[in-house]
Amino acid sequence: MKFTVAIDGPAAAGKGTIARAVAAEFGFAHLDTGLLYRAVGVKALERAGGVIDPIAAELIAGSLTEADLKRADLRTTLASRAASKVAAIPGVRAALLRFQHDFARRDGGAVLDGRDIGSVICPDAEVKLFVTADDARRAQRRHRELAAAGSELTVAQVLADLKARDARDSRRKDAPLTRAPDAVLLDTTELSIDCAVAEATALIRARIEQGRD
Ligand code: CDP
Ligand code: CDP
Repeated sequence: MKFTVAIDGPAAAGKGTIARAVAAEFGFAHLDTGLLYRAVGVKALERAGGVIDPIAAELIAGSLTEADLKRADLRTTLASRAASKVAAIPGVRAALLRFQHDFARRDGGAVLDGRDIGSVICPDAEVKLFVTADDARRAQRRHRELAAAGSELTVAQVLADLKARDARDSRRKDAPLTRAPDAVLLDTTELSIDCAVAEATALIRARIEQGRD
């Protein structure tokens, strides 16, 4: 069975949490596409000693390995920032497209979360969700995660970083962050994780049932 769930939205909205939970519920494979850009970002920073070279970033994107995606430093604020910079380079996006596309159409179902899954990578996805939450709530949630990992950034610093990244992701020319017209909006500002997952699960279940009719 081929069945793709596309989950997009701004930083720290709850995309990954929902994607992991629904993948487990339906036995689908899950790809956190942000990890691809994070891995390219940190490698590009290392290679160039702090300044990202677009050509080098494109080459790195074309030769990413499983090990690159397992690095322990992909969740830092530095990695987030580098990810959103390399994500604006068209050659980087092109180099990562095929892998994501093949992942989405594998047998047994797939959930991908990112920014351009419903709009560019899988425009024909069976279910599209656009997950969002207000800025302050997203910053609080990401701050809690970063603090647990030892970061000393304040909530205000995390908020500024999220806003800068959302702006860069929304304004870039190639595959900007946008809600596909047929994506269902899920605002998690006032939703617990369990409620958000329940809403997404109900939507996917309804679509699977529809396909059986
Ligand atoms: O993948 P994305 O960056 O959109 O967000 P996430 O990593 O899934 O969620 C960011 C943080 O918000 C995590 O610590 C989640 O546990 C938390 N969260 C929450 O508190 N309530 C929700 N309804 C969704 C996520
Ligand atoms: O978890 P969070 O939402 O903070 O970030 P992420 O999903 O890991 O993505 C990190 C960065 O990668 C984003 O800010 C985007 O610039 C980029 N990205 C993208 O351009 N397209 C995707 N499909 C996924 C991520």
